[in-house]
Amino acid sequence: MKIALLGFGVVGKGAYDIIAKRNDMEVVRVLVRRPIEEVAAISTTDINDIVADPAIDTVVEVMGGVHPAYEYISAALRAGKNVVTANKAVISACYRELTALAAEQGVALRCTAAVGGGIPWLINLERCRRIDTVTEVSGIMNGTTNYIMDAMHRAPVAFADILKKAQELGYAEADPSADIDGDDIRRKLTISANIAFDALLQEEDIPMFGIRTVTDGDIATFQREGYVCKLIATARRTEGGVAAWLQPTLVDSHALEAAVPANYNLISFQSEYLGRQSYYGQGAGRYPTASNVVQDCVDILGGKKAFYAGKAAPMQPDNSGVKYAYYVRTASKDAWLASVTEKAMGDGVVTAPVSVSEMLAWAKAKLNEDSALFLAAIG
Ligand code: HSE
Repeated sequence: MKIALLGFGVVGKGAYDIIAKRNDMEVVRVLVRRPIEEVAAISTTDINDIVADPAIDTVVEVMGGVHPAYEYISAALRAGKNVVTANKAVISACYRELTALAAEQGVALRCTAAVGGGIPWLINLERCRRIDTVTEVSGIMNGTTNYIMDAMHRAPVAFADILKKAQELGYAEADPSADIDGDDIRRKLTISANIAFDALLQEEDIPMFGIRTVTDGDIATFQREGYVCKLIATARRTEGGVAAWLQPTLVDSHALEAAVPANYNLISFQSEYLGRQSYYGQGAGRYPTASNVVQDCVDILGGKKAFYAGKAAPMQPDNSGVKYAYYVRTASKDAWLASVTEKAMGDGVVTAPVSVSEMLAWAKAKLNEDSALFLAAIG
């Protein structure tokens, strides 16, 4: 297999190192924005050098972002090349177009590393769905935020310091607000739900609340009450379609999710035959993520092309039927919150069960008034 790498960042360098130890594949070209000494002999800044080169059969895209990744992947597929990508932004945003194009061209498009870093989550989700009905996907899908939450539960630590550490370790997105505000997770949830339910969800339609505003005081309260706070994403089949959301969630201190440390992810599906099955591992970082990229290349060598169903229906998430009691902390008085409050808890209150759609819509609006607002579903 003759491979062109698009990008030589954290994951690109990892894939390059793993491939260098194999004799069934070789990196023959690297697309870079600026010269990198290690790959100077094979690097180019012009995508056409790759797309027009008939000697290259597989393009590995590890640049991230939607543009120009979408244009580059499309051009590679149109040129009859297989594509492997770790880029959740482009797969989430352009799922329908890219999978259709790959099918039309009869080439492979694989993206196992796009969700869960080094965890073989998507391939096993698809494997389940081949013969079974998946009813829910859920879990901890972001290494950076789990790393932060885990550290905050272990010892008092400033949010900014621990985020910096996650960046140094190569877990965080280029713009870490994508981690802490939830966009990165929303993309992973969209891809997972699309594969699980043969759906075409749009990431923008999924409501979310991140961890930017969590405080030491909140965490101390949760621990006193026997909870651990985790950022949990869920997509669920409902009678009429699908529900999907992500929010900080208080899990029992004995729950599986409560034990997930550092940058690890724990992602589960629920299906009719299997019940609940969970996948645990490093959800971010150079070599874990690169290992799934190279596994996709090995699968292509073995004749596997895509892992998507040909059919998929556009769906709009509806979270009005899913209810939780919530912990809410806000310094601003609010009539609606007062009307659903049941009791005080630490610096905040606990509400009666409220629908996810109602609470996340309220919180989104309320953040304009109180940017320090924090909430967590009591799961
Ligand atoms: N920033 C992401 C994370 C990288 O922390 O999980 C892996 O997708």
